[in-house]
Amino acid sequence: MSTAAVAGRHPPGPRGLPVLGMLLAIRRNPTAVFMDAARRFGDVAYLKIGPRRGYLLTNPADVRHVLQDNAANYRKSPLYDKLRQSLGNGLLTSEGAFWLRQRRIAQPAFHRQRIAALAGTMAGAVREMAVDWAAIASAGQPVDIGDEMMRLTRTVVLRTLLGTDLGPFTTGIDRAWKVMNQHIGDSFWSLGVTDGWPTPRNRRFQAARAVLRGAVEYAIRQRRAQPSGGDDLLSMLMDARDEDTGESMTDEQLRVEVTTFLLAGQETTSLALTWTFYLLSQHPAIRERLEAELDGALGGREPAYEDLPNLPFTRRVIDEAMRLYPPAWGFSRQALGDDELGGYRLPRGWLAFLMPYVLHRHPTYWPDPDRFDPDRFLPERSADRPKFAYLPFGAGPRQCIGNQFALLEAHLSVATLAQTYRLHLVPGHPVEPWPLITLRPRFGMPMTIERRAAPR
Ligand code: HEM
Repeated sequence: MSTAAVAGRHPPGPRGLPVLGMLLAIRRNPTAVFMDAARRFGDVAYLKIGPRRGYLLTNPADVRHVLQDNAANYRKSPLYDKLRQSLGNGLLTSEGAFWLRQRRIAQPAFHRQRIAALAGTMAGAVREMAVDWAAIASAGQPVDIGDEMMRLTRTVVLRTLLGTDLGPFTTGIDRAWKVMNQHIGDSFWSLGVTDGWPTPRNRRFQAARAVLRGAVEYAIRQRRAQPSGGDDLLSMLMDARDEDTGESMTDEQLRVEVTTFLLAGQETTSLALTWTFYLLSQHPAIRERLEAELDGALGGREPAYEDLPNLPFTRRVIDEAMRLYPPAWGFSRQALGDDELGGYRLPRGWLAFLMPYVLHRHPTYWPDPDRFDPDRFLPERSADRPKFAYLPFGAGPRQCIGNQFALLEAHLSVATLAQTYRLHLVPGHPVEPWPLITLRPRFGMPMTIERRAAPR
């Protein structure tokens, strides 16, 4: 260990208030606190957030150490407890041998070839949305593109992975998740003292949770009533047997995993698409390049899986949108034993903050970081950039299981929709990232839809 590490000094960081540290500031504006700490204190910044202490890591080598090389020394941090209370103990929130078992059950559903085989179903769902948009475009009324993208990604998860629908719960579920996301996001940093109190806020949260639970139970019931005989994710979860006991998952565990996939699969991808369309609306020259690529490669034909290698700029636009607005903007780990990071000792029990939002705007790795410039992702401009400076899907053993699925869906969706439509933000509408569990647009994303002239 280095001298500082041996001496047990922690790195510098913002001073904050006595006892509370940075708690109130982080509850007010978390991304601002983390951005500011990285700017002022460099690679490793000390943060005290109420009773919790930890380091914000913005050197890709340290990020790699925590998420990958020394991942065995870390668990997901207690901040995930809030998420566990809502989703249950499933793939996203569990630990250890139980997590590994669940990951192994689900993994085959996400193999590259299997994902590729889902492209036709994904493309079909996007085409249906494109058809719906014709009427919206004619009417000229703005729609919330965040809601539209949520509708799209939910349909895709239900059809491709779960092979079922939500029946009467379909319309209630987006609203329920919005309430839950806001509740968990708002109380993420709190100590949970008032969690059980019957306040209106808590009651709204419990009601939303009940809607979600009802929806998932409905989906599973439907599927049991009409077994698909297919080999999708839900079949794998239903058919899985414990190697030792031969037992299948309990109904409760099945419900937890279906909830996890329903939410993890729809929310983040829909936000990636929403921010992409927002950025395109603000950068007409880039939108025109995108349209030129689509017209050149497709000539008005609907895009399919085989077309995607010929649409590299479209993919760079998505990568760059996820750089500026990473849907999973920040996550954290807790050290199981002492570690050393950037020359400082991280004591057992302390937290490591890994923040894609901050890493993706770090001027050392991203010159002119606030500029929307998809060509940063050209191979020749990426060669010198450390891999762990870009983390939209996390990394290491807990990396997103759905990353290829999400990228395929986003690629097909942007290609299909931008080929036919231009989206315009309602003039003067304020747009501000809202860091809850995911990075949502705080005031929504109302846009008008304009039909493009057919390519010549
Ligand atoms: C643009 C879209 C997406 C983004 C940005 C995203 C981001 C992430 C990130 C950052 C993590 C790791 C969190 C951590 O290490 O603490 C994660 C995990 C996870 N994601 Fe995604 N995700 C996306 C799409 C999806 C999709 C489409 C699915 C499923 C269909 C999915 C399912 C999961 C699951 C189950 C985990 C937990 C994996 C584990 O711990 O083994 N995600 N995601």
